[in-house]
Amino acid sequence: MDVKQVLFMSKGDAENNYARASSYTQKIASSAKPTIASTVDSLLEEGFFPCKLLNVADLGCAFGPSTEAFMSTVIESVQKKCACLNCSTPEFQFYLKDLPGNDFNTLFKGLSNFSQNYESLSCFIMGAPGSFHGRLFPRNCLHLAHSSYGAHWLSRVPNLTSQEGFPLNKGRIYISETSPGVVKEAYLAQFQADFSTFLKFRSEEMVDNGRLVLILNGREDKDFANLDDYFCCEKLGEGFVKEEKLDTLNVQYYTASPEEV
Ligand SMILES: C[S@@+](CC[C@H](N)C(=O)[O-])C[C@H]1O[C@@H](n2cnc3c(N)ncnc32)[C@H](O)[C@@H]1O
Repeated sequence: MDVKQVLFMSKGDAENNYARASSYTQKIASSAKPTIASTVDSLLEEGFFPCKLLNVADLGCAFGPSTEAFMSTVIESVQKKCACLNCSTPEFQFYLKDLPGNDFNTLFKGLSNFSQNYESLSCFIMGAPGSFHGRLFPRNCLHLAHSSYGAHWLSRVPNLTSQEGFPLNKGRIYISETSPGVVKEAYLAQFQADFSTFLKFRSEEMVDNGRLVLILNGREDKDFANLDDYFCCEKLGEGFVKEEKLDTLNVQYYTASPEEV
């Protein structure tokens, strides 16, 4: 199964849709504001002007309030910096990217107030499908790229079947304390391959001195000992999924430690 064709956050405006069920990532987006503001500040320091257009991307945007929070922080930080430097505000081009299954309609419906708030600016927003495990933009065009809680998603589930065809992660859907070492190694190798290509493609797409802000779900401990980091996978592994399905199901993300990143 090609997961990038089928992966999406719960859609529409129902009670359990992603926009309503994403309070955790919204808190993260809110706590990232000072980092984004200081990143914009440093970007505009280094000979940015007389550039008249700021190209900004949100990679793995989904369709909740986090994208709006990110775009507002960028715009307000640029305005503040331009007022300090006594120069005119550039035009903004925002590119909102996610997999093809993302609910881009709900994303854009939710942004109607946003556009009104910044009516006096030249601010253009474009949404388009694409995987951040591949090239998304022409060379040398992005000034600022951001991805919050997305880049720990892998391009595929690593191969967790033995040569004889037996499931290596039996009874689990992610790395747990009891998973054999080979499972951890396979996940780490997949993360390293994917994260390396993620950075390689972004380095081609970004201008010199561009900025990349990445927020990943990770783990603090070296050995997957702290189960709080991925408790929901343990719970799913403990009875909500039928045994035969469980043995062939493994989640498609990796919670890296700082050393691994
Ligand atoms: C947990 S959501 C985070 C959404 C949003 N950034 C936020 O902070 O609320 C992760 C998003 O990453 C997207 N994603 C996962 N793999 C991706 C890929 N290969 N390319 C682009 N987006 C991807 C998912 O579709 C999902 O919308």
